[in-house]
Amino acid sequence: MGQLIIVSNRVSVPEKNASARAGGLEVAVNAALKERPGIWFGWSGKVATRGTIATQTAVENEITFITIDLSKEDHQEYYRGFANSVLWPIFHYRIDLAEFSRRDLTGYLRVNDNFARHLDKVLGPDDLVWVHDYHLLPLARALRERGHKNRIGFFLHIPCPPPEMLTALPHHERLIPSLCDYDLVGFQTGDDAFNFSRYLTRECGLHSRDFNFVTADRTVRVGAFPVGIETAAFADLAQKSMRLPFVKRVIKSLGDRALIIGVDRLDYSKGIVERLSAFERFLQRQVEWRGKVTYLQIAPQSRTEIPEYADIERETGAVAGRINGAYGEADWTPIRYVNRAYSHATLAGLYRTARVALVTPLRDGMNLVAKEYLASQNPDDPGVLILSRFAGAAQECKAALLVNPYDPESVAAALGQALSMPLTERRERHASMFRTLSRNDIRHWAHSFLTTLEREPSTSGRFKMESVQ
Ligand code: F6P
Repeated sequence: MGQLIIVSNRVSVPEKNASARAGGLEVAVNAALKERPGIWFGWSGKVATRGTIATQTAVENEITFITIDLSKEDHQEYYRGFANSVLWPIFHYRIDLAEFSRRDLTGYLRVNDNFARHLDKVLGPDDLVWVHDYHLLPLARALRERGHKNRIGFFLHIPCPPPEMLTALPHHERLIPSLCDYDLVGFQTGDDAFNFSRYLTRECGLHSRDFNFVTADRTVRVGAFPVGIETAAFADLAQKSMRLPFVKRVIKSLGDRALIIGVDRLDYSKGIVERLSAFERFLQRQVEWRGKVTYLQIAPQSRTEIPEYADIERETGAVAGRINGAYGEADWTPIRYVNRAYSHATLAGLYRTARVALVTPLRDGMNLVAKEYLASQNPDDPGVLILSRFAGAAQECKAALLVNPYDPESVAAALGQALSMPLTERRERHASMFRTLSRNDIRHWAHSFLTTLEREPSTSGRFKMESVQ
């Protein structure tokens, strides 16, 4: 059996004293590699200032990390440009924010080709390749063009919009069908897989049998593999984290106020401004809660060099400040808004402390904060999750209070309901979701994707879409 080669834009090379948390993709891949060690290849996160592009190799716990730097031009055109100013908005249903340029598309294809050139040096004929996320849609094509016949799988961590939106992507006909060079294309939810399947039928004239698409070269399987977390380990961590001095300080600072928590990268897809407005509505309508709650919004900055991200940062700060000015008292600040990133351990303790989590993205592939919040709860006295119906996690977390993030009234009403929910109801809701998260944990995700990728394809209906219970 060959080795497993994971490819993603970002790679989290273990660092001593690393305190800030890694992103969703990095957490998932890290856990998958614990299951089955191999190579993790991708961008180092560094932009080369001079002509030479360095490659770094590190070995840790049987995993080989190979990372390359990006040139200034590559970083601008591939990462900031095409990946994050075109694909990211369109895949999050925000065509209005996409800023396309031919130059960025060329840079995107060039970096994918460059990744393939580097992989060429390490790829053996029996290796299994697992490519992650929207930065690398055409990587399999670039590898096939170099003659690689390996089994190659792709997993999209972000949502996949319907074909009516995908076709708004300039040159979609060059990019989206290139996913058919993978043997398996995985999505977070059945809806995402269905959207992609509809694209293949509508735009490429391909028809499927049980989500198997037969092309001239191969059978491409399409499925839903909802990303999980290390549920048991996270629950354990949360219990221990209550002893951290910082967590204790936060608890003391709350007095007897109930904590409402939100944790998101500062990104327009997360709906933070809409959430703040819903919180304001809650304070307006349910005056009895004034002075009795503290809403902590943790929002580390992200992709700050992209104008839309700078805009959302300005707007979020302004709205939080306005609400605090309007409703705060000399002895009460309704919203604590911080742009810092905290470690997993600290977050786990804060989640366990919070009576309510507000996870209300306008659109999200999965959203692991929702799952981490649930895993962190004390099962005897759990908090309540308020979750956007537009997060992938809503498919599994059906016992959360599901809301429409575009409707501040419904979010405000859910806040009131969550804060006054009886213990028995909280326990029941939490227990059923915890059971699901324990079953669909990160090991299950990695295992089911990899075993499907390895299995012989068939058009006889043996492969079924993973269903989420
Ligand atoms: O959701 C997609 C994703 O890749 C996450 O996995 C990750 O947390 C986030 O985007 C990070 O974005 P970036 O690599 O641009 O900082």
